[in-house]
Amino acid sequence: MSAPLALVTGASGGIGEALAFEFARHGYDIALAARSADRLADVAARLAGEGAKTHVLPVDLAVPDGAKKLLKAVDDLHLEVDVLVNNAGFGDMDPVAEADCGRLVSMVDLNIRSLTELTCALLPEMTARRRGGVINVASTAAFMPGPNMAVYYASKAYVLSFTQALYTELKDTGVTACALCPGPVKSGFQDAAAMKGSLLLKLSPMMTPTKVASAGYRAFAKGKRETIPGLSNKMMVVSAQLSPKAMIMALVKRLQTQ
Ligand SMILES: NC(=O)c1ccc[n+]([C@@H]2O[C@H](COP(=O)([O-])OP(=O)(O)OC[C@H]3O[C@@H](n4cnc5c(N)ncnc54)[C@H](OP(=O)(O)O)[C@@H]3O)[C@@H](O)[C@H]2O)c1
Repeated sequence: MSAPLALVTGASGGIGEALAFEFARHGYDIALAARSADRLADVAARLAGEGAKTHVLPVDLAVPDGAKKLLKAVDDLHLEVDVLVNNAGFGDMDPVAEADCGRLVSMVDLNIRSLTELTCALLPEMTARRRGGVINVASTAAFMPGPNMAVYYASKAYVLSFTQALYTELKDTGVTACALCPGPVKSGFQDAAAMKGSLLLKLSPMMTPTKVASAGYRAFAKGKRETIPGLSNKMMVVSAQLSPKAMIMALVKRLQTQ
């Protein structure tokens, strides 16, 4: 019998790369998607060292036909996706009135539209086989509004809400959905979001992608609906939910200022 296959988006670095290794260690073959073909090839070569069969699928998922192109590449290779890991995503630290609107729309396209399109396309095969599932990478940002990163926080609120509802829809189908909600993680994210000088990064402890990926895999394998890796992140989410919204938003705005 062939190994199950995980399709991981945003697998060229950071949390996606770590999730690819985590699934490979648990006996999965890996299809890797992101824009950077060179970096994907490098990750694939290292995954082969773990004994995983790999497929490199370079694609831009922030353009309207990105998800369709990826699904066609999967189809052309006759790949059966057992687990879909919707990890590709980016943020941008800028007040909306000063932001590049095109970049914000690309963020919605990547963080929301492609994630939704890939899930809708691949889920019916999973439910027909009565196994497999979806891990959607949300964030602790999903639990509150985020002034100065408004679209990013809203996009992650969508990812969390979508995944929670999916989890309930999928009950008794043999298929599961899990939202992975990390706090700050040391990765390429901070450069991409232009947030390096922010108070948030000066004050927050950063987790490693490996720790986050391992928590994500564990939660998914146990059939959990969502997971927030790290005790301080869990406590932050609980206290944010118990505090007045205006206070939390003022704090987030202060933390997310250069
Ligand atoms: N780092 C954090 O603090 C943190 C916290 C909570 C949640 N997250 C979430 O975790 C996920 C992974 O982020 P990360 O921290 O690992 O950041 P990262 O190191 O910047 O990785 C992002 C990944 O997404 C890919 N990507 C970006 N734009 C893409 C596009 N248009 N099409 C296809 N792939 C694209 C990147 O590859 P290419 O550049 O090669 O395309 C890369 O593989 C994101 O959804 C992020 O929102 C991150």
